[in-house]
Amino acid sequence: MAETGTGRAKSSHVTLAGAGESRFKLLFDLSRSLAEIKELETLLSSIVARCRELFGPGSAVAVMLLDRDTDELYFPYTDTQRPLHMPQLSEVRIPAGPGTLGGAVMATGKAELVPDAEADPRFDLELQRRLGVRLGSVLLAPLRSREGMVGVLTVSGPRDVPPWTPDDLGFLENLASYVALAIENARIYERLRTAEEDLRVEVGALRADLERRDVFQEIVGTSSAIRSLIRLMESAAASPIAVLVEGETGTGKELVARGIHRASPRGEGPFLAVNCGAFTPELLESELFGHQRGAFTGADRAHHGLFETLSGGSILLDEVGEMPPAMQVKLLRVLQEGEILPVGASTGRKIDVRVISASNVNLEAAVASGRFRADLYYRLAAFPIRVPRLLERRGDIPELVDHLLHRAVVAHGKQVLGFTPEARALLLECEWPGNVRQLKNEVDRAVALAHPGDHIDVGDLTEALRAGGGREGLLVAGESAAGEVPAAPLRDARIAFETHYIAEVLEREGGNVSRAATVLGISRVMLHKKLKQLGLR
Ligand SMILES: Nc1ncnc2c1ncn2[C@@H]1O[C@H](COP(=O)(O)OP(=O)(O)OP(=O)(O)O)[C@@H](O)[C@H]1O
Ligand SMILES: [Mg+2]
Repeated sequence: MAETGTGRAKSSHVTLAGAGESRFKLLFDLSRSLAEIKELETLLSSIVARCRELFGPGSAVAVMLLDRDTDELYFPYTDTQRPLHMPQLSEVRIPAGPGTLGGAVMATGKAELVPDAEADPRFDLELQRRLGVRLGSVLLAPLRSREGMVGVLTVSGPRDVPPWTPDDLGFLENLASYVALAIENARIYERLRTAEEDLRVEVGALRADLERRDVFQEIVGTSSAIRSLIRLMESAAASPIAVLVEGETGTGKELVARGIHRASPRGEGPFLAVNCGAFTPELLESELFGHQRGAFTGADRAHHGLFETLSGGSILLDEVGEMPPAMQVKLLRVLQEGEILPVGASTGRKIDVRVISASNVNLEAAVASGRFRADLYYRLAAFPIRVPRLLERRGDIPELVDHLLHRAVVAHGKQVLGFTPEARALLLECEWPGNVRQLKNEVDRAVALAHPGDHIDVGDLTEALRAGGGREGLLVAGESAAGEVPAAPLRDARIAFETHYIAEVLEREGGNVSRAATVLGISRVMLHKKLKQLGLR
């Protein structure tokens, strides 16, 4: 109806109409081949091509489908053999009511033979004019599936040949029942495929989400500070960018670095943190880059450095601000060239390790004051991530307390019932200068001291907390501002004072342990030990 061949011999379809047997064989073949096509688009093109074969090359075949939303018929597929018609036809919409030829078949559900299209008032002369063709006789058969009428199959002949016969109509009707079935199957298949595709996408997203949660689950907390931290970690994990994790002592910098590593494509590879402040410059170099046998006294064997043993993984350069200047130069060269030169070796070796760094001093300030090389800083800190202090996310303390309590109970194998409301309140009020690590130490200590089956009470917490909480509380304990001597053993009072004093000196020195140790008049090693004991590191 919509298209027609021009000048082709009418005889072909007359011949076929007479050859009943071969038509039914063709019909059988067609139904079988249609049943195998699952994509609607391919199916429709095959229907049109095969129908034209059956009705003769002069015929024009079209499938019209019903758009249930608008109750209109449209041409879902247009014959590529007549590309000129395609844009016009794909835009055509025909009301599915009795006023049009196709609409009438939809309405009655009956096949129809129209001997002369142009003489029928339901025929769209305007459409014919637009397509630039003239149709003669038209056959229309309903496409009926289990869901009802889905469309119309039409075959038109040119004007200059005799009209279709009732036999032709009967044949088309038969053919239409197979075509309708094939369309229905293709639609079911398509629905299943989209459902499956949707499901696959959804499962993929859920799985990625679960994995992410798994990777970041160590980071306890739901405060907005933690949520933005996790978002940054996700971005950092997704690219190989150089990350600098900054934050006060005990805030969880190592946890963050490990989380980034595990969520990254290297996540299955090894991860290790090296404390750059804990080694002499020579040892740090050999630790990171390795050494040849005999490179220095005591180097009786060759030794692979961490940059090599962590190949495929990530290394955390912890306390990178404490890296000695000579080592800063060497690290910069390694990062620029992507290869290491083991101590005593003459040729470099390629490395494949992601470098993440962490610092509890403000590295930018260290650069400004000349203690840290600016060029190295820019190499390491392309993506700085600041880990918030515990005070900035007080809302997370209850969840952290539960998490740490659970871990301590499991570690000690001791059934402790939890905190009394007073003890819990104290934990919530504290200043926590040592951040999560101090909280963890407090919980660990309390569980170690508690009797099985008991609650942890205020008296089981350290003097530092009991005196009012954290730094400010410590000031009260130290100064006895109210004139009262706090009722605590001397040992607790001394620890409280030390904790406070060391934390303050460390802060004043911008977190630099070496300088804090000088101010305090003790060695750096001793200060590291004390920081650990007091739960400040
Ligand atoms: N958000 C958190 N959820 C659960 N545990 C945490 C969290 N943050 C820190 N911790 C715990 O606190 C302790 C200190 O964390 P971590 O060692 O990562 O801190 P840090 O910032 O590297 O400290 P430092 O500057 O002293 O090296 C660890 O036991 C860690 O498991
Ligand atoms: Mg650390």
